[in-house]
Amino acid sequence: MLNLIACIDKYNSIGLNNDLIYKFKDDLHIFKQKTINNTVIMGRKTFESLNNNPLPNRENIIISKTLSESKNNSYSVFKNINDVFKILTNKTVFIIGGKQIYEYFNPYYDEIHLTVVKNEFTKNYNINDSIKLNINLDNFKIISSQNFEKFHINIYKRLP
Ligand SMILES: NC(=O)c1ccc[n+]([C@@H]2O[C@H](COP(=O)([O-])OP(=O)(O)OC[C@H]3O[C@@H](n4cnc5c(N)ncnc54)[C@H](OP(=O)(O)O)[C@@H]3O)[C@@H](O)[C@H]2O)c1
Repeated sequence: MLNLIACIDKYNSIGLNNDLIYKFKDDLHIFKQKTINNTVIMGRKTFESLNNNPLPNRENIIISKTLSESKNNSYSVFKNINDVFKILTNKTVFIIGGKQIYEYFNPYYDEIHLTVVKNEFTKNYNINDSIKLNINLDNFKIISSQNFEKFHINIYKRLP
């Protein structure tokens, strides 16, 4: 099962200066609950934004043509992005960013978990500087929407 999990705001921004724009405690907690003991896949730049530290208690896969393999087996590097399709059987896989990796897998997601920041909590930054996510939700239907103080968490499922 292939899932996207991301946090976006009203401008569809997901990142600024190779970092997250929003770090809401509740959202990070739910992210952890969903991904723990599962597989997380990210691009090399997102991995760098984590100071090259894999997320604990999850299988970590980094998509990169330049990154070296882990010396202590704490993550795997896929040089060929299409190798992801070989590991999907019997696994719950979350694509955790960034833009390049999210968008590549858009035609293949089973579910999309979007944390959408409420307008009044959208930060003030130069919109031209941010990384924006372009995801097509045409073939998805919303199956759940949870309301929190500063954001909603919407889950979309691919239509059969
Ligand atoms: N809001 C959120 O939920 C969220 C979540 C995650 C990340 N982010 C943000 O997103 C931003 C980073 O996104 P990004 O799009 O710049 O970078 P990214 O997707 O994290 O990583 C891009 C890198 O992935 C590798 N890559 C991409 N396509 C590939 C392919 N077809 N084959 C092999 N390798 C491939 C390349 O690494 P090499 O150059 O090493 O080959 C490329 O430079 C940061 O600001 C981060 O904080 C936001």
